[in-house]
Amino acid sequence: MNERVCTVASDIIDSISDVLRKHEVTFEEYRAGFRHLIAAAENHEVGLLLDMFFNQTICDIEMKSRQGTRSNVEGPYFLEDAPWVTDSVQVCGNTEPLRIRGQVRDTAGNPVPDVEVDLWWANPDGTYSGYSDDLPKKFFRGKLKTDAEGRYDVMGSMPIEYPMTSARHGPTGELISMLGRQGMRTKHVHQKYRKEGYHPLTTQAYFSGAAYIDEDPVKAVFDDLTYDLQLEGDVPVLEIETVLDSIAA
Ligand code: BEZ
Ligand code: FE
Repeated sequence: MNERVCTVASDIIDSISDVLRKHEVTFEEYRAGFRHLIAAAENHEVGLLLDMFFNQTICDIEMKSRQGTRSNVEGPYFLEDAPWVTDSVQVCGNTEPLRIRGQVRDTAGNPVPDVEVDLWWANPDGTYSGYSDDLPKKFFRGKLKTDAEGRYDVMGSMPIEYPMTSARHGPTGELISMLGRQGMRTKHVHQKYRKEGYHPLTTQAYFSGAAYIDEDPVKAVFDDLTYDLQLEGDVPVLEIETVLDSIAA
């Protein structure tokens, strides 16, 4: 027996049973929910479904014992083997430029060099590279290391807001609509930071004043992750400040 699985899974099962009793769910309703879940699985949406409704809860739990930058949903579109990049992340199609600059510090304010940083965001079609033959994973995602001052600086492209209720999102999208949530995710840049001795951090950057920012279907937008863009010539610049929690602290 696995003690932890037994404790958590038993509570999940009991909680679901309590809800079924509370709402006197009928056999037909139970089977409709059952079919919905099977359809989500057949559509390879289990990751999407779980991340949509539960990923942010896990992030909130993590933050109970941390002081650094807020952990935020990873979502189902991270790929471990993104290309290493230096000055720019490869983009294609009809994109608008976005320069992404960041500095990583520890909770005492010291710069953290040699942090492995992953950046990824949606392409102009509102999808993520590496998930179809049409768009290889060398686009719209990249891996880099912070310099001696904890900084990084790459040219990328402006992410776009994307629908989570399109035909592509199948039963998960239908559920979002049935819950009465609007279906567009506001635009965002995903980031993952890793360095030995520090808690790995997965988070996102959001854009002040962007469409749908106040009605995120994933309920994962926070003011402390929302940035004003600066203009350098014609190019908008996103300046991300990140604080990592050390494992020893
Ligand atoms: C995302 O890519 O931001 C995401 C997608 C689905 C669920 C949660 C997050
Ligand atoms: Fe995303």
